[in-house]
Amino acid sequence: MDAVTCTAPVNIAVIKYWGKRDEALILPINSSLSATLSQEQLCAKTTVAVSGQFTRDRMWLNGKEESLENPRYQNVLREIRRRARKRKIAGEGKGTSLSDALSWHVHICSVNNFPTAAGLASSAAGFSCLVYSLAKLFRIEGDISEIARQGSGSACRSLYGGFVSWNMGEKDDGTDSVAEQLVTENHWPELQILILVVSDQKKHIGSSAGMGVSVKTSELLRYRAEHIVPRRMKEIETAIQNKDFQTFAKITMQDSNQLHASCLDTYPPIIYLNDTSKQIMHLVHKYNDFCGEIKVAYTFDAGPNACLYLLEEDVAGVLAMVNHCFPPIEQNGDQYIRGLQVEELPIQKD
Ligand code: DP6
Repeated sequence: MDAVTCTAPVNIAVIKYWGKRDEALILPINSSLSATLSQEQLCAKTTVAVSGQFTRDRMWLNGKEESLENPRYQNVLREIRRRARKRKIAGEGKGTSLSDALSWHVHICSVNNFPTAAGLASSAAGFSCLVYSLAKLFRIEGDISEIARQGSGSACRSLYGGFVSWNMGEKDDGTDSVAEQLVTENHWPELQILILVVSDQKKHIGSSAGMGVSVKTSELLRYRAEHIVPRRMKEIETAIQNKDFQTFAKITMQDSNQLHASCLDTYPPIIYLNDTSKQIMHLVHKYNDFCGEIKVAYTFDAGPNACLYLLEEDVAGVLAMVNHCFPPIEQNGDQYIRGLQVEELPIQKD
């Protein structure tokens, strides 16, 4: 038996991925960009093993057996084995172990270390970790973001630390739709993320289904993908390179708002934000106005939980403001802030 264990963190997008041009290969209608969180914070931990004793491929997620029938798992496993076979035929990775591994079945065991209440994108960390572990096990080299992308689009960005872009690519086979590190985790160490957990309820419509309807019905989404995202990608990349927080923060909030505007423009409309999310947005703008410059930026994915980007020197002030507006209550031993659970997270440092 051969086994490998790896961890991969969650990433938080500042230019959002929303919409596929190819559902099977998971090819997006626009490029996107995110920061990968620290390994010690929200991450998935996966062990993959191959053995001649295993009678079929199996998987356990947070201790419960899951079916591997889902085409996303099948695509990932098929692609990993195809690449490993290619490597073997090319004469690399000679040795009984790789040959054996290719004819044996795999067992996968994955757990998330983040509080279930966080309700944060676990598929990005999960698929990223699964693909990375399998690639190590089958000794695959080269870019594997193309494989992670076929598990869950946003997963390809969690393979790298720091700020990572996912270039939409142009080819029909998706070989140029890959993730690329823009800057490492050491580039902007002052940048922090606060996660305000507004709700741990399951979202009424998942991101894959939601973006499918948006692509079919939202003209705003089409316009955004063609005309706005390409410009924003360039502008935010320059802002990150220059550590220009004002520009970075403004684009981050505008892009989050445009994702949710596109959801409302979808027919029938999709609404992920709730009243607390809107109160947080309002509070952030009030606070920034009061300070005379942008001190903090919000961004929301396909749910009501807020991710706040801010500089380290402003964490205490922003936390005080959040505490003041949402007075703390105790719940299940965790500190909640009137329904909000606050997590303070650095960008990934390896
Ligand atoms: C709102 O990567 O979960 O978080 O590719 O269908 O698995 P699939 O979708 P997923 O979508 C994430 C959407 C988002 C924005 C983002 O992370 O860029």
